[in-house]
Amino acid sequence: MKIGLLHSLIRKDEKFLIDELRSRKGIEIVLMDDREITFSLGNGSYDIDVVIERCINHSRALHALRLYESFGIKCINSYKVATICGDKLLTSVALAENKVPQPEVRVAFTEESALKAIEEMGYPVVLKPAVGSWGRLLSKINDKDAAEAILEHKTILGSYHHSIFYIQKYVEKSGRDIRSFIVGDNCIAAIYRTSPHWITNTARGGVASKCVVSDELNEISVKAAKAVGGGIVAIDLFETSNGLMVNEVNYTMEYKNSIDTTGVNIPQKMVDYVLKVVEGDNG
Ligand SMILES: Nc1ncnc2c1ncn2[C@@H]1O[C@H](COP(=O)(O)OP(=O)(O)O)[C@@H](O)[C@H]1O
Ligand SMILES: [Mg+2]
Repeated sequence: MKIGLLHSLIRKDEKFLIDELRSRKGIEIVLMDDREITFSLGNGSYDIDVVIERCINHSRALHALRLYESFGIKCINSYKVATICGDKLLTSVALAENKVPQPEVRVAFTEESALKAIEEMGYPVVLKPAVGSWGRLLSKINDKDAAEAILEHKTILGSYHHSIFYIQKYVEKSGRDIRSFIVGDNCIAAIYRTSPHWITNTARGGVASKCVVSDELNEISVKAAKAVGGGIVAIDLFETSNGLMVNEVNYTMEYKNSIDTTGVNIPQKMVDYVLKVVEGDNG
C-alpha cells in the first residue's frame, strides 16, 4: 500500500505519524512537500492509495486536496471537510443544520449591520476572522465603544477576509475549554486547555491537562465531526450551564502534546483509521 503524506515542515506531529506508518508492514510512504509539488491538470495519474493531508497553510491544503481528489485519490481529510472546517462560518452552518449545540452566532456584511447585530446579542461578543487559527486576530468586545473601534479598524485596515463579520456570543468558560480528538466514529481522547487569558489555545500559552471522555463529550464530538463530513478532526468545546457546545472543528489535527497528557497513542489510532478506510475501499 502506498500512502502519500502531504506536508510542509515536518513538525513533531508529522514525525510521529511517519514513525507509526514505518512501524507497519507493507506500507510505502511517499512524502509530498507542498513547497515542491506541482500539478498537471488532466494529465497522468498518481500511484498512491491515499493522501494524508498535513499542510500548515490552509489554502495549500485546500487546493492540493481538490487536485488529488480530481485524480481519483482518496484524501484524509477530504476537500469537503477542509473547506468546511477551514471556515468558521461554514462550520457554524453545518453545525446548525445538524442541530449540534454551539454558541449563538450572527453574520453581517457591513460595519453598520454588524454593530446592530452585536447590540442585539448583548456584550461581550467575540469577533473572529472566518478563516484563521491559533487564536490569531480574535477580538473580545465588551462594550459599544470597543465594537465601533474594532469594526472600523477591520473595515478600513482589514483585508477582504475581514469584511465578513462572524460574531459569536462570548461564553463564560471558567478558565478552560475542551479539545477533543475524533477519529472516524470515536472520540479517542480529550484535553482541557486552561489559561488565565480568555484565549486558551496552547499556541497562546494555554496549559493542557487530561479530560476524561464522557458519553456526552463523545456523542457531541462525533456528531460535530459527522456534521462537517467526518474523518480525523479536533474539536474545541465549551462547558456551559446548558451542556457542552461546539466552538470550532479543526481538520489538520495537532496532537503532539496530547499523547503523554492523555495516555492515548493518537498517531496509532490515526494510522489504524487510514488503513481501515483504504482497505474498505479496496475490499
Ligand atoms: N465565543 C467564545 N467565548 C469564549 N471564549 C472563546 C470564544 N471564542 C473563542 N474563544 C477562546 O479563544 C480560543 C480560540 O478560538 P477559536 O474559535 O478556537 O479560534 P482558532 O481557530 O484561532 O483556534 C478558544 O479556544 C477559546 O479559548
Ligand atoms: Mg481553536
